[in-house]
Amino acid sequence: MTNTMWGGRFAASPAEVMEEINASIDFDKRLWRHDILASKAHVAMLAATGILKAKEADEIARGLGQVMAEIEGGTFTFSRALEDIHLNIESRLRELIGPVAGKLHTARSRNDQVATDFRLYLRDELGAIDRALGQLQLALADKALQYAAAVMPGYTHLQTAQPITFGHHCLAYVEMLSRDRGRFADAAKRLSECPLGSAALAGTGFPIDRDMTAKALGFAQPTANSLDAVSDRDFALEILAGASIAAMHLSRLAEEIVIWTSPQFGLARLSDKFTTGSSIMPQKRNPDAAELVRAKTGRIAGAFQALLMVMKGLPLAYAKDMQEDKEPVFDALDALKLGLSAMTGMVADLEPDLKAMKRAAASGHSTATDLADWLVLNLGLPFRDAHHVTGKIVALAEAKGCELKKLPLADFQSVEKRITKDAYAALDVAGSVKSRTSYGGTAPVNVRREANRWIKRLEKQGLSR
Ligand code: ARG
Repeated sequence: MTNTMWGGRFAASPAEVMEEINASIDFDKRLWRHDILASKAHVAMLAATGILKAKEADEIARGLGQVMAEIEGGTFTFSRALEDIHLNIESRLRELIGPVAGKLHTARSRNDQVATDFRLYLRDELGAIDRALGQLQLALADKALQYAAAVMPGYTHLQTAQPITFGHHCLAYVEMLSRDRGRFADAAKRLSECPLGSAALAGTGFPIDRDMTAKALGFAQPTANSLDAVSDRDFALEILAGASIAAMHLSRLAEEIVIWTSPQFGLARLSDKFTTGSSIMPQKRNPDAAELVRAKTGRIAGAFQALLMVMKGLPLAYAKDMQEDKEPVFDALDALKLGLSAMTGMVADLEPDLKAMKRAAASGHSTATDLADWLVLNLGLPFRDAHHVTGKIVALAEAKGCELKKLPLADFQSVEKRITKDAYAALDVAGSVKSRTSYGGTAPVNVRREANRWIKRLEKQGLSR
């Protein structure tokens, strides 16, 4: 059987494999709600402009409502022979209301239809992702407030660098996620143009009102060039690019959770809710959720590459290649949303081991910079010289196998005779973080202020725990 929706000039049916490669209904059925909404807006416009009679438009709208109810109720039968969601819906409409259903496709093509549906779908997804990112920010900001003064080792090169607070570390991720939200909000602005009415590629001779459909569907305006409108997938690429960056952020946090909860670091603990056991090693508590969040970055960034490669060689305007746009996007955004909720759960669940963190923060001569700063402030040494002096003192401590603060004053004075016992205060980790009050620094007063500011801002956005 040739396709009943476009088979006029075809004498023979497609090969089985043709149907197999051509059909998109198995995945684009997700667009059903948006497809019907767009059709309703289109038919209302066709009536308002006198292209259809009011009675015809009413019948079509009523039929579309019925199709929607059938899909919602799970009684709709999707057919691969009908290729895609657009033809499945229109074909059912015809069964329900008869030949007048054929008038719905006046001044429209599947090319502008699918571009419109996909934008509508992604607009909803952007809303859901923004909320999920906000939720994770809130979980992190809560932790930050709770642990504003909890000292932990700060690393560069994964080597102990300087003491920081756990709250400060949490807020670093709040900032990253804020940029992610900004990127998605920016994509949402550019996405807000309606392709409907661009028809196949050249526009239409019917006196349509594109402002009306754009407005009815909540777009800021209609797209300005019909060729561009049906062949553009930048909006999906931008979202995948943003998703790849957001996933990379989640992956970094996941990696830190894996590190912190490993017995050798032992800086934090996840409860049984977010760990799994081993089938052979009874002692194991594996951070599987964190590992899976880390791994999902691969498929999300892969989806971005996949769509970029689909698009890169396409001449204007629509080509069937573009049907391959949906699966990577659906998969990537599903993975991102799942990763975000798993991460939000893990952050709330994560308990830092405050003693272990403080102990680790004090090891590795982490306050050597504070000693150098003390030499600058109290003895007037240029920082470079203070750095040199401190380096020699660290070497002495290392030779004796002790922490800087355990090194006798005589050893300090053997390097720089003007050092007094007051210098020991500079070596205290709590004192060190407290002193870092520069804007954006790790001092608990800063962390508390920033955490409160974020919590207030996020609560105002209607986010709750
Ligand atoms: N299923 C198609 C897609 O997703 C809809 C557009 C089909 N257009 C066409 N000219 N065959 O891209």
